[in-house]
Amino acid sequence: MHTEAHSSWLEIDLGAIRNNVQEMQRITRRPIMAVVKANAYGHGIEAVGKAVVEAGAAWCGVARIEEALALRHSGVTCPILDMGYTPPQRIPDAIAADISLTVDDPEVAVQYAQTARAAGKPLKCHLKVDTGMSRLGVSVQHAAEFIQWLHEQPDLVLEGVFTHFARADEPQAVTTEGQLSKFQRLVEEIEAAGLRPEWVHAANSAAGLYFPEARFDLVRSGIAIYGLQPSDQAPLPDTFRPALSMKTRITHIRTLPAGQGISYGHRYQTRKPERVGSIAIGYADGFRRWDGNQVLLHGKSVPVLGTICMDQCVISLEDVPQAKAGDEVVLIGHQGAAHISAEMLAQAWGTINYEVVCGMASRLPRLYND
Ligand SMILES: Cc1ncc(COP(=O)(O)O)c(C=O)c1O
Repeated sequence: MHTEAHSSWLEIDLGAIRNNVQEMQRITRRPIMAVVKANAYGHGIEAVGKAVVEAGAAWCGVARIEEALALRHSGVTCPILDMGYTPPQRIPDAIAADISLTVDDPEVAVQYAQTARAAGKPLKCHLKVDTGMSRLGVSVQHAAEFIQWLHEQPDLVLEGVFTHFARADEPQAVTTEGQLSKFQRLVEEIEAAGLRPEWVHAANSAAGLYFPEARFDLVRSGIAIYGLQPSDQAPLPDTFRPALSMKTRITHIRTLPAGQGISYGHRYQTRKPERVGSIAIGYADGFRRWDGNQVLLHGKSVPVLGTICMDQCVISLEDVPQAKAGDEVVLIGHQGAAHISAEMLAQAWGTINYEVVCGMASRLPRLYND
């Protein structure tokens, strides 16, 4: 991996992603839909799309038609489900690129069917059922009737029925069991009526690991394939490996006199002559403007001093006298025995690891390790 030409970058271990897809498959004993929306949770949709397919993922899942088309353009040929809303105007694109779409609203489904008829080819779709997430989905009470109607449409091919859990990452909460039993009753009803489509699916990563009955025909796994924890209460087995590291460099070093303010607002003042380094990372890269960030330098954790700017910030070199311009600085990942995880940053920033990695800016080059 050639990092020399970059001031800041992400390193993505595709071997870890392949391992994680296979681990998910081994543990759940189900085909995997690799969820690669949001630029593969910041990891880069094109390279990750290819890697998950190489690892045996049966499907890719996205949330926007643009993401599905980007996958097709990069040569991914496996089935793709757009789990979000797709405007009817995009139906011809979806049909031409063989993308399966989510339907959950009878009026929109009528529009989809009409557009598919005009395009001269049926549209593949999955019905989303709301069992308690209260976000997308036809209510579970009306789902069987909708499924019957979908089966009758010559311009729509009902490939799947699915639901999504609100609290699978809290395995102690009873919510998931409640959602699951509603969904199971629906599946029994459509099976009895001969209306069960090929793919019934419900589990995300946490449910796939912690609720075996939720696995049905397919597990839709996002966070776990990146080697990140669904939550503290739903940790990954230790055979999973995080794939993403965030790195930058020291660009300038200086020794400031005592009483000197640093960065916007001078919110840090040196107490004595202090040696500091500027690093080429800022909030526009996804490194949050939060007081208290630490970074790794020569295997030691050192503090960020003062306000984080858009493109850079300043770190203390007081404990690392050997530091020099050009040295690598780790924001997420390992350096020697030291380590900063996306989970640690999430906890510090008052958010979840999903948001930390999805917040990685597009301007950061993604460098892939095979
Ligand atoms: C409908 C749906 N299924 C599956 C996933 C994957 O979830 P996770 O990343 O927790 O595995 C998501 C992600 O938000 C989703 O929206």
